[in-house]
Amino acid sequence: MSYMEACAKRYGDIFTMRVNFLVIFVSNPQALQQILSNDTNEFEAPGDLNLILEPLMGKHSVITISGAQHQRQRQLLMPPFHGERMRAYSQVINDVTEGIMSQWQIDKPFSVRSATQAITLRTIMQAVFGLYHTPRAQRLEKLLGEVLDKASTPLSVTFLYLPFLQKDFGPLSPWGRHIRRQHKVDQLVYEEIRERRENPDPSRTDILSLLMAACDEEGQPMTDEELHDELMTLLIAGHETTATALAWALYWIHKLPAVREKLLEELDRLGDDPDPSIIFKLPYLNAVCCETLRIYPVAILTFPRVVKTPLSLMGYKLEPGTVVIGSIYLLHHREDLYPEPKQFKPERFLERQFSPYEYLPFGGGARRCIGLAFAQFEMKMALAKILSCRELELVDNGEVQAKRRGLVTSPDRPIQMVVKSERSLKSSTQRVDQHLISHIETVS
Ligand code: HEM
Repeated sequence: MSYMEACAKRYGDIFTMRVNFLVIFVSNPQALQQILSNDTNEFEAPGDLNLILEPLMGKHSVITISGAQHQRQRQLLMPPFHGERMRAYSQVINDVTEGIMSQWQIDKPFSVRSATQAITLRTIMQAVFGLYHTPRAQRLEKLLGEVLDKASTPLSVTFLYLPFLQKDFGPLSPWGRHIRRQHKVDQLVYEEIRERRENPDPSRTDILSLLMAACDEEGQPMTDEELHDELMTLLIAGHETTATALAWALYWIHKLPAVREKLLEELDRLGDDPDPSIIFKLPYLNAVCCETLRIYPVAILTFPRVVKTPLSLMGYKLEPGTVVIGSIYLLHHREDLYPEPKQFKPERFLERQFSPYEYLPFGGGARRCIGLAFAQFEMKMALAKILSCRELELVDNGEVQAKRRGLVTSPDRPIQMVVKSERSLKSSTQRVDQHLISHIETVS
């Protein structure tokens, strides 16, 4: 991130870097609009440039395929992620968050990242597979947690970037261990698919059931292999990203007391058991989530796009085959769009509206994040639940920066928090009363 910032300072909104091959990085909103709104005609969004993800997600993953096949697969995947489907997931998110919170003990520090990771893994497992407390669900959750956690270490990422290291030298070698773990996950996923095919249940609303029932324009359903690869893709893309975003949100909210106060005021006004769609639309909660994803975007770059026909971008002539990547991080740190960009200020999202090319946490165009609505919904529901039920504090109030963690970014050191007390609407009213009483006492 600091290297990109140094480049932007020296070269401006568009510059070329050699990253194995030459890549043009862009952080100008108009140029990003040109790229992302044309990435099926002047540009393309090929999956073969994302092949490093193939060992994790498979060769049929929406992320690693291209062209017409990519568009078909997106159409099959999109319906379970439409905004109006979110209500179906609200109970899952609430229950899972409550379950994780119940493990926290008063005054005993816990790792925020582990907690948010547990919330998002269990949520995505339940939303995707509709698997709750079956032995297979528990085994799958444990194994997946291990696969995903290991996939984020610098060593694993090196293996992904350097395919010649991907050699199985037995169960004790790093790649050998990865393959064996992955194989066990695959077996469980295929078992689940087989069982569902044998015992179809039209009343199920989980994502796997919806995908199994979906057909493309020619009436073709997904094959087992496609289903497996897409499920792995959704689990990987949907779990770590949202966990990091949620951890950052909790950090900022508790780092800045004024932000927490404002948020609690908004949440406390809702009363008991508020409707999920009302929580989703809360203006300040929305602003806090937007600012969280602005200041340290979990994905700092879009997937690569490639020039298809000769064109001009910001006055530069680009030839077919040129690789272009949107720098989400640089865009989100532009002084002209976000004054004092290093400051966490949710108010900026209340004061003005940003275009889809000025604010880009989920990318755009042909590869815009499929889980965008799901991730935002999960963040808001989980935050509302946690803040309404627990009074939390950061163990230490020092600065935390973003650093790379595997394929995404994350806090550069563990963030620890403690529960100071359980909270209810009543206790928040008492908190206000207490505040008023001490104010009256001071005045008198
Ligand atoms: C805060 C959470 C998340 C962030 C910041 C995020 C960000 C992104 C970004 C930047 C892209 C690339 C877009 C582009 O190149 O234009 C992307 C793609 C993708 N995301 Fe997310 N994402 C998040 C959560 C999720 C969730 C919850 C899911 C699914 C359950 C998901 C599934 C995907 C998929 C499948 C793609 C690839 C789409 C394609 O290749 O057509 N993401 N995401």
